[in-house]
Formats: sequence, C-alpha cells, structure tokens
Amino acid sequence: NFKPRVFSGIQPSGGLTLGNYLGALKRFAMKQDEGIETIYCLVDLHAVTVWQDPEALRRQTREAAAAFIASGVDPQRSILFNQSQVGAHAELAWLLNCVARLGWMNRMTQFKDKAGKNAEKASLGLYAYPALMAADILLYHATMVPVGEDQKQHVELTRDIAAKFNHDFGVEFFPAPEPLIEGTATRVMSLRDGTKKMSKSDPSDASRINLTDDADTIAKKIRKATTDPAELPSEIDGLKDRPEARNLVNIYAALADMTPAQVLGEYGGKGFGTFKPALAELAVEKLAPISTEMGRLMADPAEIDAVLGQGANKADAIARPIVERTYEIMGM
Ligand code: ADP
Ligand code: NA
Repeated sequence: NFKPRVFSGIQPSGGLTLGNYLGALKRFAMKQDEGIETIYCLVDLHAVTVWQDPEALRRQTREAAAAFIASGVDPQRSILFNQSQVGAHAELAWLLNCVARLGWMNRMTQFKDKAGKNAEKASLGLYAYPALMAADILLYHATMVPVGEDQKQHVELTRDIAAKFNHDFGVEFFPAPEPLIEGTATRVMSLRDGTKKMSKSDPSDASRINLTDDADTIAKKIRKATTDPAELPSEIDGLKDRPEARNLVNIYAALADMTPAQVLGEYGGKGFGTFKPALAELAVEKLAPISTEMGRLMADPAEIDAVLGQGANKADAIARPIVERTYEIMGM
C-alpha cells in the first residue's frame, strides 16, 4: 500500500568515479526513464561526517549536481536536491537515532572501514551516519533504493529501523525499502588492485577513472590497469580467480549494456593488447560527453543553485508532512 518511489543519494565529498557512475548515476537515470517517481539527493550532511573544506564542499556540491544532470537525471522528471537545504532530514535523523540500537550500529562494516584503527577519533556523526541514511530514505516513504553493494547493509538497517518504529508505536507508517543492487557493476574495483573497491578516497589517482578525466587520461589509465598475462577466457567461469580481468570485463559490459558472457563471446581468446584499447575507446565514447556536459554546467553555478533550490522545495513538500506526522506519532 506504499506507492513505488525511488530514493538514493551520493556524497559531494570529492570527484565522482566510474564506480559511482556505473553503480549509481547511470542506474538513477534508468529508473527515472522507467517512469517511476525518483528522488535523488546530494548528501552533504553525510559528507561532513569527515572533515570537508567549506569552499571545496560548496564547489563539489555543484559538481555532483552537474554529474547527475550530465548522466541523464532530468531535474524536471526527478527531484534533485541538496540534503542540508531540507531541514526534515536532520530532524528525522534525530528521531531515528532514538529508535536504532547501539548493537545494530556496532555491526556496520563501513564505519569500521572509514574510522580505521583509531575509532576513538572518529566523529559521532560518522558513527550515526546509517541512521541519517535511514532518515533520508524513510522521509519520502521510498520503497526502492538503487545502490552499489557497499550500501546493502545500510539499507537493511533502514528496514530494521522502520520495522522497530512501526512495532514500537503500533503503526504501519514506514515502508520496508528494498535495496536495488542490479547489473554487472554493483562493485567496480580499483584499476590497480582487483581486490579493492574503486573509490574517490583511494590515494592513487591511477586506481580510478574520474568523471572529470579527459579522453587521454581515461585511455592511459585503462592501458596501465593491472592485469595478468593470460588471454580472456571464453566462459565466465574462467574469470573466477582473475579479479582484475573480471573487473575490466564487467566495466565493459556495464558501459556497453551487454552481459559479461556477451563480452567474452566477442573477446574470449584475445589478449589485453586487444581488449584494453577496445575498452578505452568504449569508455571514452561513453564518458567524454559526460565530462564535457559537466564542464558546460559548471560554467553557470547560479543556474545549478537555482535547480537545486527548486528541487529542495519539491523535496520539502513531501518530507515536511512525513516528519510532522512522525513527531505526532511519538507524542510530540
Ligand atoms: P563513495 O563510496 O565513492 O564514497 P558514496 O558513498 O557517496 O561514494 O556512494 C554513492 C553511490 O555510489 C552508492 O550507491 C555506492 O554504492 C556507489 N558506489 C561507490 N563506489 C562504487 C563502486 N566502486 N562500484 C559500484 N558502486 C559504487
Ligand atoms: Na559508499
């Protein structure tokens, strides 16, 4: 009895990568094109759980908005906005902090990864991050959350929080959102180490393709990607113990809208001397227009701010009544 509604977000905490594009942005545009109601958020309140230089955050927020639009998210058909401009996110996050249990939060693997060995020095916000994410999703009664694999645990926690709230207050107020982890690029790996996720926080720039990289840089990074000396297999099974090869095949498949089996049908038996240039050409063909469009949009920051302002108004119109009702259910 909840209508289908998609919510997802991306942190404006630095340059976006091919992983963010294939795992998130490209699929955000696809969901919108399926005609489902789609709400997409630049989650700056999440970004500040670790130190952000204020000027850089302002610039990166506009850049992330440009990346959404350049990837096909249409602010007329989707709601695209910046989290801190809709106060209900922080309000519902507090209420859900009081529903989530410490034991649940202690199991979150991303906190352990991000806080590292010195967890005592992490911000309280970094620890509470998953409850804020639950608020982001539940504030819109979203039913579907397209994310990469690394976010699955947080969406499951969101379901637990929603269920506990409904149970504690004897209501059917929050839906149980489904994580949508689909396609061949749910976990794009580093170009230098096939066991690590491609990430903007990797110190090696050669490990990732940034959405702002130009054609030459993209081609060079793919040429230099770590691989083994063997030829590509003709069957998927042959990629099992070859994480680097599998990653490049998956990237090709996702960019070309093919299955990995179809890619191997074309390139099985061929070496990386053939496959890498083909992948580089495909990546440039798909990504160069995005970086060009981002550059065009970034030239007019006032226009981006206006788009985000309109998005915030639309988001607030949905979120405000839901947080008001939450207060009421809780006796406030
Ligand atoms: P990051 O993980 O790069 O810091 P976010 O936490 O803002 O970025 O993630 C934004 C979205 O991009 C999430 O849905 C996340 O799952 C997805 N994502 C991030 N990195 C990858 C990757 N290497 N492969 C696939 N999806 C990814
Ligand atoms: Na992430």
